[in-house]
Amino acid sequence: MIENFIKSSEYTQKLFDVDDEVMKSMEIESLNDNVPIISREVLNFMIFNAKGIRAKNILEIGTATGYSGLFLAQIANENGGQLTTIEIDEKRHKKAIENFKKVGIFEKNHLILGDALEEIPKLNKDNKFDFIFIDAAKGQYIKFFTMCWNLLNENGIVFIDNIMFRGLVSESETEVPKRYRTIVQRLKEFIQKLNNEFDFVLLPFGDGVGLVRK
Ligand SMILES: C[S@@+](CC[C@H](N)C(=O)[O-])C[C@H]1O[C@@H](n2cnc3c(N)ncnc32)[C@H](O)[C@@H]1O
Repeated sequence: MIENFIKSSEYTQKLFDVDDEVMKSMEIESLNDNVPIISREVLNFMIFNAKGIRAKNILEIGTATGYSGLFLAQIANENGGQLTTIEIDEKRHKKAIENFKKVGIFEKNHLILGDALEEIPKLNKDNKFDFIFIDAAKGQYIKFFTMCWNLLNENGIVFIDNIMFRGLVSESETEVPKRYRTIVQRLKEFIQKLNNEFDFVLLPFGDGVGLVRK
């Protein structure tokens, strides 16, 4: 069963191969420099959702070097809007700027260096988002989500990656390595809250994807 799942996952990853040189080199760089980026299968699903609602203004929490951001920015720009993306690590933020410049869309978008917990409250409350991608520190997901909710337009979508944290969220507490127990406990509480109070779907593919609609 699990072998079938792994095979299917490999098949999907290959199927969604990215044919752009900049993107390909970013995938290689992320492997070499240990920068975690979105998997191709989750990326494709995210693009499908953002395009489906013709997302104009998009917020990303966790830019890294701009891989997912470049796709989101192009969707936002095509719809007459922009991507706002926040990254805490200065080196990654600078690399993301370089990558946005290479693709020629740096000026049209807004790359912020800083802690999202401090930067989100500074965003203009009158300029709401249609699509919010949460992809930063998993222990803070519930805080990011709560801070962003008021910035989301009606019918907007919050897309949350890695919400099942390597499948550990579905394990009993004793099976979870001690160093991850706090993060896993917080993610479980977050999922419970989303499930009880919001229009939410949890998809156990990739590293677990959560979708919330307003
Ligand atoms: C999984 S990576 C993002 C990958 C990126 N979205 C992509 O798919 O190309 C998570 C990033 O979030 C950043 N991060 C972690 N905590 C953060 C915070 N509080 N505010 C802003 N960025 C944060 C990390 O430095 C890291 O680069």
